[in-house]
Amino acid sequence: MAEGRAPGKVILFGEHAVVHGRPAIAVPVMEVQARAQVIDSPGRRGVTIHAEDIGQVIDVANAPQDEPLSATVRLALARLGFRVGDVQLQVTLRSSIPVASGLGSGAAVATALVRALCAHLGRAMDAATLSAVVYETEKLFHGTPSGIDNTTVVFEQPVYFCQGQPIRTLKVGRPFWLAIADTGVPSLTKVAVADVRAALEREPERYGRLFDEIGMVADRGRRAIEEGRTESLGPLMDENQDLLRRLDVSSPELEALIAAARRGGAQGAKLSGGGRGGNMIALVQAADADRVQAECLAAGAKRVFVTKVG
Ligand code: PMV
Repeated sequence: MAEGRAPGKVILFGEHAVVHGRPAIAVPVMEVQARAQVIDSPGRRGVTIHAEDIGQVIDVANAPQDEPLSATVRLALARLGFRVGDVQLQVTLRSSIPVASGLGSGAAVATALVRALCAHLGRAMDAATLSAVVYETEKLFHGTPSGIDNTTVVFEQPVYFCQGQPIRTLKVGRPFWLAIADTGVPSLTKVAVADVRAALEREPERYGRLFDEIGMVADRGRRAIEEGRTESLGPLMDENQDLLRRLDVSSPELEALIAAARRGGAQGAKLSGGGRGGNMIALVQAADADRVQAECLAAGAKRVFVTKVG
């Protein structure tokens, strides 16, 4: 038996604009994890995936080409020099990362799956190759992903990401804390990304400017993180959220949690990920974390937890 794990992630600055070539910053979230276990399954050729959380059993050889988990297995095995028919394996997937909530569950499950396969088959895969394999899965989940999710989840470091540029991990000058609160409203990133793209096509100048402004916020965020100016991060998160509202990817549930976090003493708050639902993130002082948590729960959050960055 072999096991692979991967964390979730949140986007601190730059979602949506990152799909259109602007920079963004994301950090791994170790409190939530995807886990994959691989065992030999003698007498049964191929790979069977048991996705426990969604109650699905997938036979990789007979799954549709665009089914993301089996596509991940096929691609990973090919990279490792195997064909599906060469192996006899059973994979079990479990994840504490809510699906369609902006925490990178698709990338984490795929990463854990490939790590478990590598461990079981005794083969190594470097992080850049693993990230590229998971990116292919992300395309099946998300349509036109920027690549920020797979990069953050695979490298398990805060990243400053810009499509087509070398990956840049961030040194965190001073640690800071984020409260992460779930609206409980599932939202497909694919749909939000497609809507923003359609808006860009209708009004290229207006949306191009909004993306530029978001990219500048991400750049200022990078400098603040690296220089340990954590007090600048809250206002930057608020500024980013204002721009996301103008992209029409916020929602009443997200706004209610943002207001609640502010009541609890958070220094800034925004949606994280595709938006329209999913998770809200708020910058908190360790001393205010309990109050922020309580306010968010009272405002309808399904789950709230705090993660330390750096
Ligand atoms: O919803 P998530 O966690 O998959 O984040 C999506 C972030 C976007 O910028 C909206 C899309 C992307 O591919 O970068």
